[in-house]
Amino acid sequence: MRAAYRRERPSLVIHCAALSQSPACQETPLLARLLNVEVTALLADLASEIPFFFFSTDLVFDGLQGDYLETDEVNPRGVYAETKVAAESLVLLNPRHTVIRTSLNGGVSVRGDRAFNEQLRRAFLKGQKVGLFTDEYRNPLPAIVTARAVWEIACKGLTGIYHVAGRERLSRFQIGQILAARWPDVNPTISPESLSSYRGAPRSPDTTLNCSKAQAAISFSLPGLGEWLEQNPHEPF
Ligand SMILES: NC(=O)c1ccc[n+]([C@@H]2O[C@H](COP(=O)([O-])OP(=O)(O)OC[C@H]3O[C@@H](n4cnc5c(N)ncnc54)[C@H](OP(=O)(O)O)[C@@H]3O)[C@@H](O)[C@H]2O)c1
Repeated sequence: MRAAYRRERPSLVIHCAALSQSPACQETPLLARLLNVEVTALLADLASEIPFFFFSTDLVFDGLQGDYLETDEVNPRGVYAETKVAAESLVLLNPRHTVIRTSLNGGVSVRGDRAFNEQLRRAFLKGQKVGLFTDEYRNPLPAIVTARAVWEIACKGLTGIYHVAGRERLSRFQIGQILAARWPDVNPTISPESLSSYRGAPRSPDTTLNCSKAQAAISFSLPGLGEWLEQNPHEPF
């Protein structure tokens, strides 16, 4: 990374790399810390004189409240979120640097298996009946829209924390229904589940992000996922 940085001499760094899947972070916490915290520290240090954007997550919050502002207190539940909180703190030590917290991002990945929509579609294609929570809320956004918003925030030279997510607060079940309606060809089967009957690693019920600060800074309205899909019927998703 040091050699690449010297070679490229960037004027802006947008740091997206991460060990981003919560289960992988729970299983390999040392690797999660290395990739999410220490790599971020090294990059932020290399970029100390230029704008640096770090991608963080809605999961820094415990999800007991919802509609979180940038100023609300964080309370991570799980290794992934803990590493993101630790990385945020060190990024924010530099007043030139910016933290973008975002919610579920969907779209098209290189191998077709990264985004939540791709994973859901694969499960449908395999004929799996998918259980989705009716009482766990997020505000999803297509990654292409997140990219546009972050680019505008970067072009304006804004620093500090910004929440960038979709306008609609949707349960996992509602997200599944919206996507199932878009893919009638894969014969989707979804069953409603509740967090009350879930047993396993901690989950955060409502980590929806209040995005008014970012909204006031950018030139377009952050759409809800359902709204964006309706307006972009031919966009791959
Ligand atoms: N997607 C979401 O819903 C979401 C929500 C909130 C926050 N975020 C945050 O947004 C950022 C981007 O998320 P994403 O969904 O695009 O994540 P992702 O699909 O898991 O992609 C992470 C990227 O990091 C790269 N990477 C991981 N370890 C690396 C290493 N040791 N060296 C070099 N590259 C490495 C991966 O490379 P390979 O492709 O080679 O594996 C991949 O390109 C992450 O910081 C994530 O925590 C994402």
